[in-house]
Amino acid sequence: MNRWRWLVPTALLLGLAAAAMFLLRPESAAKPVVINDTPVPPVPTLDAARIARGAGLYAKNCAACHGTELRGAPDWKRPLPDGSLSPPPHDDSGHTWHHPDSLLLEIIANGGDSVNNSKMPAFGGKLSPDEMRSILEFIKSKWGKDSREFQWWITATTSGQ
Ligand code: HEC
Repeated sequence: MNRWRWLVPTALLLGLAAAAMFLLRPESAAKPVVINDTPVPPVPTLDAARIARGAGLYAKNCAACHGTELRGAPDWKRPLPDGSLSPPPHDDSGHTWHHPDSLLLEIIANGGDSVNNSKMPAFGGKLSPDEMRSILEFIKSKWGKDSREFQWWITATTSGQ
């Protein structure tokens, strides 16, 4: 009889340990992102070295127009008299996160649409593709979970990402 004395407490303890491991499992045991019933792989982790490099490049090349805190021009939703747009924010309050990587990198490299009198300069001749990717990595690091997940999803479901 004595032999079974520990069975129940041991089973209970093991059960508790399993429950704790399940509840405390790291966030990085990442789940696929599912939007519109379309799953894509889990959101990739951002690269800290790239973010740091991107922050410096952003401060030098982008902050004058898009703001050091990525908040854009104060009245950015109102078009200017010449029909052009003011620099939008790159944080969650803007629409940068609505677009896939391919489109954002294209805009950064080639500038805005001249048809709209755009004041967004082309950086293709000034920054390397790797530098432009680092700036984008820095911008992504400023997004909340929902924006980041959506932008990853739209990137993963858009061809030519
Ligand atoms: C001289 C001002 C200016 C500078 C400097 C500038 N931008 Fe812009 N940017 C704009 C304006 C104005 C727009 C608004 C859209 C348009 O007119 O095409 C814009 C739009 C964008 C967009 C499109 C956002 C969206 O949601 O559609 C991206 C991405 C962008 N800029 C990234 C950058 C990055 C990265 C840098 C630095 C490497 C930079 N910009 C530097 C003025 C600037």
